[in-house]
Amino acid sequence: MRILVTGGAGYIGSHTVVELLVAGHNVVVLDNYCNSAPVALQRVSDIVEQATGAQASLTTIEGDIRDRALLDQLFEEHAIDAVIHFAGLKAVGESVDKPLEYYENNVGGTVTLCQAMDAAGVTRLVFSSSATVYGEDAPVPYVETLPRGRTSNPYGTSKAMVEQVLTDLCRANSRWSVALLRYFNPIGAHPSGLIGEDPQGIPNNLMPYIAQVAIGRRSELSIFGDDYDTPDGTCQRDYLHVVDLAIGHLKALRALNEPSVKAYNLGTGRACSVMEMVQAFEKASGRKIAYRIAPRRAGDLPAFWANPSKAAQELNWQAKRSLEEMMADTWRWQSTNPNGYHG
Ligand code: NAD
Ligand code: WQD
Repeated sequence: MRILVTGGAGYIGSHTVVELLVAGHNVVVLDNYCNSAPVALQRVSDIVEQATGAQASLTTIEGDIRDRALLDQLFEEHAIDAVIHFAGLKAVGESVDKPLEYYENNVGGTVTLCQAMDAAGVTRLVFSSSATVYGEDAPVPYVETLPRGRTSNPYGTSKAMVEQVLTDLCRANSRWSVALLRYFNPIGAHPSGLIGEDPQGIPNNLMPYIAQVAIGRRSELSIFGDDYDTPDGTCQRDYLHVVDLAIGHLKALRALNEPSVKAYNLGTGRACSVMEMVQAFEKASGRKIAYRIAPRRAGDLPAFWANPSKAAQELNWQAKRSLEEMMADTWRWQSTNPNGYHG
């Protein structure tokens, strides 16, 4: 198939493009590089050429999902069969300060993309949603039969809004087939060490922060709270390997063969605490992670993890890679690229 991947130069997108190309798909990436760099896609091609011995069938287009004229031209020039839609803004704290940017990019951008798709007769879509749509009061583990909940920041609300937009679209138009993939906490990197997560500025997320302490870019990790009602007092999350997550997109794509909108949790089904993450990383890297206990971070939930049964049953997908692999692959990426893609 020929797949349009929006945001394909980003962290999850680049890993998914590798899996698509290795599986023999043709890929067109549309990215405005607001949170990524073209070099990531060069590395993707290198990985694929090493793995397959053939040149990767990858076309890259620099541009914005909000640019309708560009989208119309793209769909005219490339016979796209389906779209995997990663493009968007994802920093929770920033979304509180800049709500309009988040709604414009994440909600407005998706609406424009869907309008262009519909006009071009492309009606198969895999959307990057998030466990955050379950909101603040959902019982754990999260299961897809729960309603979307009360979200606590514009980022989370933008994901819930897009889910609603896509649900309404599918209800109104029986040609559409949509998978809403609710990611839990993706971490890790490609085992080649060539691509990985490269946050700009101070990392918001735990794993890149730990990795930057290990390499000496940050002096110590702040652990946000050790007095939660969890076994060791630190928060628990469901961390999954980004390559497993990438493979989930291929499986979801394969299942887009009937008119429907379906949500799937992509997680391991296991919870791991911040303290356990620190210890596992120390073991994999052989480096000590300096940390201090800091106050709780506003908006953090004590613990959540996935019930991943629906994806197992309907998509034949399961997260296979262990926590040790997640840590080893993060460390390989960080230690061979101390400054990410920037030198
Ligand atoms: P990322 O920032 O690394 O990738 C997003 C990509 O989209 C970047 O390459 C960026 O340049 C591009 N982009 C942003 N706005 C664009 C626009 N208007 N037009 C074209 N390109 C644009 O983020 P990621 O971690 O790879 O996340 C991918 C998707 O998954 C996002 O939608 C994110 O909200 C969602 N998600 C991420 C996580 C996570 O923990 N990383 C969890 C749940 C959901
Ligand atoms: C994990 C744990 C922190 C940093 C966020 C978004 C969510 C999704 C994934 C996109 C928490 C603790 C963190 C640090 C710490 N993104 N922590 N020190 O908050 O579960 O989810 O990213 O959809 O929507 O909210 O992930 O990696 O930020 O935090 O102690 O410096 O690590 O308190 O318990 P989170 P995270």
